[in-house]
Amino acid sequence: MWCKPAVCAAFARIIFLILVAYLWFKLSLMNNFLPFALPDIGEEEIAEVVDSLRSGWLTTGPKTQKFEKDFVEFLGGEVQALAVNSATAGLHLALEALGVGPGDEVITTTYTFTATAGVIRHLGADPVFVDIDPRTFNIDAERIEQAITPRTKVIMPVHFAGLACDMDPILEVARRHGLKVVEDAAHALPSTYRGRLIGKLESDVTVYSFYATKTVTTGEGGMIVTSNREIADRCRIMRLHGISRDAFDRYTSTKPAWHYEVIAPGFKYNLTDLAASIGIQQLKKAWDFQKKRERMAAIYDSGLVDLPVTLPPKAPDGDTHSWHLYVIRLDDLVKPGRNEFIQQMADRGIGCSVHFIPLHLHPYWMNTYNLQPHDFPVSRLAYERAVSLPLYTKMTEADQQRVMTAVRDVLSVQGSVVTSASSTFNA
Ligand SMILES: Cc1ncc(COP(=O)(O)O)c(C=O)c1O
Repeated sequence: MWCKPAVCAAFARIIFLILVAYLWFKLSLMNNFLPFALPDIGEEEIAEVVDSLRSGWLTTGPKTQKFEKDFVEFLGGEVQALAVNSATAGLHLALEALGVGPGDEVITTTYTFTATAGVIRHLGADPVFVDIDPRTFNIDAERIEQAITPRTKVIMPVHFAGLACDMDPILEVARRHGLKVVEDAAHALPSTYRGRLIGKLESDVTVYSFYATKTVTTGEGGMIVTSNREIADRCRIMRLHGISRDAFDRYTSTKPAWHYEVIAPGFKYNLTDLAASIGIQQLKKAWDFQKKRERMAAIYDSGLVDLPVTLPPKAPDGDTHSWHLYVIRLDDLVKPGRNEFIQQMADRGIGCSVHFIPLHLHPYWMNTYNLQPHDFPVSRLAYERAVSLPLYTKMTEADQQRVMTAVRDVLSVQGSVVTSASSTFNA
């Protein structure tokens, strides 16, 4: 049955208008999309990079040396800092320097990024995964001792989201069993444990990440920190082909520039001066960034407190949380489920993420170590309900309001979004 031409035309016009409105809505959402993470790069970083570009020294050189020196000062001295091109590289070098190799085991958490465990495999050793504390998502210190075998060489805790692990029992177990400790501090700049900065505890090595989403960034980059001279020397040599002299030394010392000695089959893990230039300026802002993130976390806390979610734990009184991530946990019976929640947030123009898909749920780790999803039940449950909300210093208070309104909307809880009236939010 055909409709009259005039009716058909009117009908087509309506359909066309609906389509245009839909496309306009989608486009405006895309334009207005709040990403999950953004780096905070200012004119100071840009000027420092330009200075390096103009200097002609692009690879590891004076800026990297300055960045390392500044980092040691930031930590209050008494340690050595070695810049590398990622935390992954730093963790690899740290374990290599500790002599980890085939037949050895390294105890770590399943609730981490694959880099933590990948570097153990790079050395032919085996990771032994441990479940987490359901409150902090950090490695459950009490379970570490049960995982120790005669093959165990290192314990590798991860300070999840920037909240320090309970390090005293970890260090005590390590001491009692003669084990080394390497802290994966990719999230923990700056974080403190019992009043001391991560990086200044009694661990053997601490490794930070300056990946683009981290609290302090160089785009890609990392820092190895240790107070052990032998470990530092080994890492320094192995980060650059196993050569006894780095490029800066070769081209600035009075010895002939062409001469160098290879003393081990090293890696190519050095940081460039371009990246270090960004790091020098970012590090100056590290405490301001932390304070801002802390204020933002407090705003989320008060705005989301009445919702059916568990809010992330704060650092104990007197300690600092870097607030790299703000991870909420949807209550068990809450609908929609986690995946649908993230999709509905994206439909409202808000990027969210998940930290982490536990390693024992990834095919490689599952198949290599014959792991089952139920092997680490706390991690699995945490993963199934965890959502990381956007939290970065470039966000405005209005951005945070949008996130909280969207969370409330998706969880279909009506009511006003409460915020702390922080007038210094954008300071
Ligand atoms: C816990 C953890 N460890 C290590 C890494 C690796 O850091 P990078 O990207 O600097 O190698 C990451 C990266 O996100 C991480 O989250």
